[in-house]
Amino acid sequence: MLGKLISHKTEGNEVKLTFEKGEAALRVLTPEIINVFLPRETKDHRSKAIEGEKAQKVTFTVKQEGEVLVVATEKLAAKVCDDFYVDFYKADGTLLCEDDRQGRIFTRQISEHFIEVLKAEGHEVPEASDFHYPVEVVKKMQGDEKFYGLGDKTGFLNKRDYEYENWNSDIPQAHTEDYRALYKSIPFLITLSGNGVYGLFFDNTYKSYLNLGKENEGYFYYGAEAGNLDYYMIAGEKMTDVVSGYTYLTGRTPLPQLWTLGYHQSRWGYESAEDIREVAEKYRELKIPCDTIHFDIDYMDGYRVFTWNNKEFGEPGAIIAEIAEKGFKTVCIIDPGVKLDEGYEKYDEGIAGDYFAKTPEGEIYVNAVWPGDAVYPDFGKQEVRDWWGGSQKFLTDLGVRGTWNDMNEPASFRGELPKDVMFTDEDMPLPHAAMHNIYGHLMSKATYGGLKKADGKRPFVITRACYAGTQKYSTVWTGDNQSLWAHLQMAVPQLCNLGMSGFAFAGTDVGGFGADCTPELLCRWVQVGAFSPLFRNHSSKGSTYQEPWQFDEKTIAINRKFIELRYRLLPYFYDLFHVCEETGLPVIRPLVLHYEDDSETWNLNGEFLVGENLLVAPVLEQGMTKKLVYLPEGIWYDFETKKPYEGKRYYMVDAPLDTCPMFVKEGTILPTFEPMQYVGEKPLDVLRLMVFPGEGRYVHYQDNGEDFAYRNGEYNLYEFTHREEDGAEEVEITMLHEGYRCYRKIEVLS
Ligand code: NOJ
Repeated sequence: MLGKLISHKTEGNEVKLTFEKGEAALRVLTPEIINVFLPRETKDHRSKAIEGEKAQKVTFTVKQEGEVLVVATEKLAAKVCDDFYVDFYKADGTLLCEDDRQGRIFTRQISEHFIEVLKAEGHEVPEASDFHYPVEVVKKMQGDEKFYGLGDKTGFLNKRDYEYENWNSDIPQAHTEDYRALYKSIPFLITLSGNGVYGLFFDNTYKSYLNLGKENEGYFYYGAEAGNLDYYMIAGEKMTDVVSGYTYLTGRTPLPQLWTLGYHQSRWGYESAEDIREVAEKYRELKIPCDTIHFDIDYMDGYRVFTWNNKEFGEPGAIIAEIAEKGFKTVCIIDPGVKLDEGYEKYDEGIAGDYFAKTPEGEIYVNAVWPGDAVYPDFGKQEVRDWWGGSQKFLTDLGVRGTWNDMNEPASFRGELPKDVMFTDEDMPLPHAAMHNIYGHLMSKATYGGLKKADGKRPFVITRACYAGTQKYSTVWTGDNQSLWAHLQMAVPQLCNLGMSGFAFAGTDVGGFGADCTPELLCRWVQVGAFSPLFRNHSSKGSTYQEPWQFDEKTIAINRKFIELRYRLLPYFYDLFHVCEETGLPVIRPLVLHYEDDSETWNLNGEFLVGENLLVAPVLEQGMTKKLVYLPEGIWYDFETKKPYEGKRYYMVDAPLDTCPMFVKEGTILPTFEPMQYVGEKPLDVLRLMVFPGEGRYVHYQDNGEDFAYRNGEYNLYEFTHREEDGAEEVEITMLHEGYRCYRKIEVLS
């Protein structure tokens, strides 16, 4: 409680606030983004998510209205009251978000005696002290709020009535709804209610909590164990504006290399060059397109990072070159834990450079991961990131095309790292408590920088752990899911919410990582995978092998069908990444993102949009061959048959095992390529347009698909306009930008 607001002072974009018992500030970044800051630990923001100056030249007013200080732009007004309560209003006076003044009312009834009984039985009983956090903000529920975002959290699309934690966690057990935290911490929420839509980004890396109506229907709250109260109100007319605003702040997924959008095969269990060779040969033999093979930890020498297992994988790089002849790209896994092993180059370099985290007493901190005793690089130091980035050259020199960062929560086999293990935030010591949630972020940043330097291409990094803003450096996957229908079902809301939280390039392990996959489950999963930005089949040692040919002919055919479809749609996916770099809008989107006024979309968990106009409604239940599909307003066409359907209605459609219902909105133009086995197999100089009835316009992007030349203008932008005149169809092409070799042919598919 800060007491009475005594005075204020405007300096640039900031309104400094003096209360009886402390200082706070509002910062107006854009007409729609206002930061609320209560320094409790550091005077500055020290944000890891936001890089560079985001404050624009904004016109805003600061007026005292009785007891209330009103800071207003043309779009958004913040009303600051005593005790640093801050309420937000839209320009038309509609209340968006109001601080709760009553204090939390926790209604769990439990007697002292019963607490003892529960404890004796081994149940976890929340202590009274758990109920308030040193950093806490409680917002009044306006009634019908829905919540989206929050990254990879378990559960359904709408996070209303859930409670979550942000503490990057390696969870090998089946991820069920009661896991409050998985691998990622992205404390960004989008809130939709009758009053409008807005986002809240809580920028604090300590363990934090979000309770979205579960504790009490009257409010939702955010709490953190330490750090500053530092959050951003992101307003907008539409939900898409909020996503754009958030990604303006924390950064956008950059345009990837084209091949990364192809199909990837992986397994923790490829233990030799021979295993890899077989997989590569089988894909080409069966004519199932595939671009990438992932090498899991067995390619290393005794799990020492940046080494090669010559015994099983042969001469370093030879197998990589061999499969590259067939068009395969190699991605190698790298964990952060460095084996404690004198004489091993990376360990010795780290010791010499003082690169590892330490105990509070100043000893190198040791825990264990795959190689046994291991030490943890202190990625908060620039010199450590440079060292780690430079180490990527070991891989790129062998022909590796991307790095897969794993175990970077960081995982540890001998219990979690104590909260007081010491890391560094550039020039400031930082305990594990503050560093934990950004460990994967900083590792990814180091990897991205290193890869970019090593080969000048757009770096391909995959990470398991991350924080808000990691999307600038890395793609993500949702970690160790299992071959369970429940996990296929969860894949859709997880990918949609990751997209709404800035992570446009995300995927799940297709077929499930742990447990044994079945042919039917793989067929249904590949139907989701074909539309997931990151499309990778991956499984665990000890589980059934799950490459398509491990099952029957039908399964092979269904996998081939959907993987081929993905390759046909590559230019569409690439366009969506181009759009994402420009606007922050994700590739895979929940329907609510474009149809927020339509209440039917608020809780749609089993269908999604790819871009704005392609609607995918996969079957997610065992044995089902029909799907209940909701189509929002407009006319929609079945992707295969072109049969029209009127929107704002539900349809029960047939979906036998080889079918994934897909609908395309009237007037849509979809760019496609001819079938291929991998990117680079043939010149991509013919574009084929699928044109759906109705007038439409589509902008298509083309470049060399590999490096950064596009940032110097080496790209083409084509505008396609579709008209129907006297029954005749016409597609007009206009060049909006010409800076790259144009297609040899653009044809309209009939
Ligand atoms: C855990 C990762 O989540 C999984 O994908 C990987 O295969 C194993 N570590 C082994 O490296």
